[in-house]
Amino acid sequence: MKKYKTIFSSFHTIYRLITTSGDIKNFAMGICRLYKNAFFADKVTVVFKNVNSHGFMKMRLENKRQSFKKGGISILTNREKEILHQEKEIMLGNRMIYPFIFSDALGAVYIKRSPGSVEFSELEKKWFLSLSEEISISLRIFNLYREEKRLMINYIKSLTKLLDQYVPTSYLHTKSIFKLIKVIGKVMKLSEAEVKSLEYASLLHDAGKIQLPSGILRKETPLTDEEYKIIMKHPRKGVEMIKDLEILKPVIPIILHHHERYDGKGYPSKFSKDQIPLGSRILSLLDAFDAMYFGRPYRKRMHLNEIEKELKAQMGKQFDPQIVEVFLKILKREDIRKHLRSFL
Ligand SMILES: [Fe+2]
Repeated sequence: MKKYKTIFSSFHTIYRLITTSGDIKNFAMGICRLYKNAFFADKVTVVFKNVNSHGFMKMRLENKRQSFKKGGISILTNREKEILHQEKEIMLGNRMIYPFIFSDALGAVYIKRSPGSVEFSELEKKWFLSLSEEISISLRIFNLYREEKRLMINYIKSLTKLLDQYVPTSYLHTKSIFKLIKVIGKVMKLSEAEVKSLEYASLLHDAGKIQLPSGILRKETPLTDEEYKIIMKHPRKGVEMIKDLEILKPVIPIILHHHERYDGKGYPSKFSKDQIPLGSRILSLLDAFDAMYFGRPYRKRMHLNEIEKELKAQMGKQFDPQIVEVFLKILKREDIRKHLRSFL
């Protein structure tokens, strides 16, 4: 009965690994552990072909030790190369090998029990085959998902380039913003997914401006009320552009509310305090920082001490006071100052 429970929970584990593993390393480690626990194996090796780089990655779990290698064909032993070429499973008393194939060879798994241990039973051999078939499919899905993500990042990059040409004023300095997002994420203990969403949002938050008349966007004199109303449409228009892209779903609320103010006087929803998504509160501060630090065609760049004063003055007004505090501490760090200076 216990065995059957393990079998059923393994299917759930595979599903969870596909949906939650952010990268191939975590995915491979999850697969190794699954084999190790389901078959009481002493050694598990998983090899995956890298679809984008044509390289390989190898994860090995032996007793409690684990090792991970990534690179060209040289990271594989001759035996592992053979297994990949063989494209046929091998089922022996204390060793089982299965090549993951789904139209193409995607990798292989090799599990082993130490000599002297109980040999794999017939039931375990059958179970090994069906589990490995499932994993071949899941690996294919995982690769497709990564491919979709890669395409999406390229799409975002092209959109950002187009945006830079059309609305140069909304340009954020990607490298410095990404660095600041990473540091804020670490200090505020944001998840990897939250950090990624913030990165995407920093690239796309003003994408909706592409749909606004460029005359208004490029205007250097003060805007009329009518013109300002048009500008205020850009968060919603930006959301319209990405709303059907599954991978960008978590980015939608961040973009929609990136012009809200902590005191509720922003737009489009006049949200205040915690009503505003955390990502939007962080992004609005970074957006303002970028404009102050690097300057814009219509405003001169400011020195860090002036920026600090301005941010303090806007605590609880434009910005979330707690985020300002975190950010001011980050700005005091010498490594960050050095990093920021390198862009000037
Ligand atoms: Fe904006």
